[in-house]
Amino acid sequence: MAYLRRAATALILIMQLFTLSNAHNITKILAKDPDFSTFNHYLSATHLADEINRRQTITVLAVDNSAMNSILSKGYSLYTIRNILSLHVLVDYFGAKKLHQITDGSTSTASMFQSTGSATGTSGYVNITDIKGGKVAFGVQEDDSRLTAHYVKSIFEKAYNISVLHISQVLTSPEAEAPTASPSDLILTAILEKQGCKAFSDMLKSTGADKTFQDTVDGGLTVFCPSDSAVGKFAPKFKALSAANKTALVLYHGMPVYQSLQMLRSGNGAVNTLATEGNNKFDFTVQNDGEDVTLETDVVTAKIMGTLKDQEPLIIYKVDKVLLPREIYKAVKAAAPAPKSSKHKPKNAEADEDADGPSADAPGDDDGEVADDKNGAIHVMVSRSSVFVLAIVCLCFGVLLM
Ligand SMILES: *[C@@H]1O[C@H](CO)[C@@H](O)[C@H](O)[C@H]1NC(C)=O
Ligand SMILES: *[C@@H]1O[C@H](CO)[C@@H](O)[C@H](O)[C@H]1NC(C)=O
Ligand SMILES: *[C@@H]1O[C@H](CO)[C@@H](O)[C@H](O)[C@H]1NC(C)=O
Ligand SMILES: *[C@@H]1O[C@H](CO)[C@@H](O)[C@H](O)[C@H]1NC(C)=O
Repeated sequence: MAYLRRAATALILIMQLFTLSNAHNITKILAKDPDFSTFNHYLSATHLADEINRRQTITVLAVDNSAMNSILSKGYSLYTIRNILSLHVLVDYFGAKKLHQITDGSTSTASMFQSTGSATGTSGYVNITDIKGGKVAFGVQEDDSRLTAHYVKSIFEKAYNISVLHISQVLTSPEAEAPTASPSDLILTAILEKQGCKAFSDMLKSTGADKTFQDTVDGGLTVFCPSDSAVGKFAPKFKALSAANKTALVLYHGMPVYQSLQMLRSGNGAVNTLATEGNNKFDFTVQNDGEDVTLETDVVTAKIMGTLKDQEPLIIYKVDKVLLPREIYKAVKAAAPAPKSSKHKPKNAEADEDADGPSADAPGDDDGEVADDKNGAIHVMVSRSSVFVLAIVCLCFGVLLM
């Protein structure tokens, strides 16, 4: 009986895994046809692929390698290419069928360029118009839209979640191509200092990690800045670290991808950091706790206190503690079990949560065993026997699917 119940639990777990996992993977979809390899490459390089995979209703207007040359030959920065390509991601579903059945023969639909706020007015809208002979034309919405591209074929469709359509030309506009204040003009340490993160900024500079952070901005960067008081309290311990550990600890406060609060909220899983390298995982778990978002390193649990700066591709959060990676502190972690901390404390207890040492916040229920079981997608706590059952159920699933 017990086993049956476990199997049922495992089955539910698997089903959750299915629904939680990304429903589609644009990189994989486009990889099937080498004609789209350049477009595909730039979707990944600009991190638009992550955005596409995250959305549940989306249309991607793909162009082939020769069409991509028209913008690549202009030597644009990656950031400008991101703006242009984000015009090719429509936040609505257009399968080939819907394309040919547009009410009144013409529609105007928002692209990701519009929805990410980079566009002004309607310059992030795409005009889709049925023209003579069953052709469908595309253009960027303007007073007098020039419909510069046309529909070629459908590459992939999964109604009504993702549709990938081949169009003849790159869609672009002066606004998308405009030299924007390139994010590399965003000087991270200067921003941090202005936003009340002087102490953390000093840590970045003293270790030289500021360069790594800065180099990452273009492709997307999320920074977790511990409050000045948290850094102050941690200072003696920081001083005691080796140079390499210091750098790793500082790098641990950045993620090489732009993650809005909403994205963090919907994520709930292990995330890599700038310190992640090969076997040195240096990851932590993002966890929702009601309205709060916490970062659990297994050594400390820090809470996001607010957003200091959100200018895609850069976002900076303030956190209440220095993040201590288990790769550096697990060994010296106090073994004394502490009552389940942080979660159910009244809000005004925050002051003492500012404490940041491992001993001050040793989560007694979060031991090595659990840490090793983390599967990278969700924080599942399963005993060894249910892992076994899970494996068997997986096998059965596999057989069924065959
Ligand atoms: C999507 O597919 C590509 C290529 O198959 C793979 O490298 C990548 O890890 C996948 N991404 C996700 C989020 O599964
Ligand atoms: C799309 O562009 C065409 C050509 O400029 C125009 O006639 C049509 O009204 C536009 N459609 C919409 C919905 O604005
Ligand atoms: C497809 O989209 C619908 C909403 O449009 C959503 O409810 C559903 O979960 C999506 N399916 C997958 C597999 O993501
Ligand atoms: C720092 O790094 C060394 C070697 O890389 C490691 O052995 C040590 O445990 C680390 N942690 C601390 C707290 O110094």
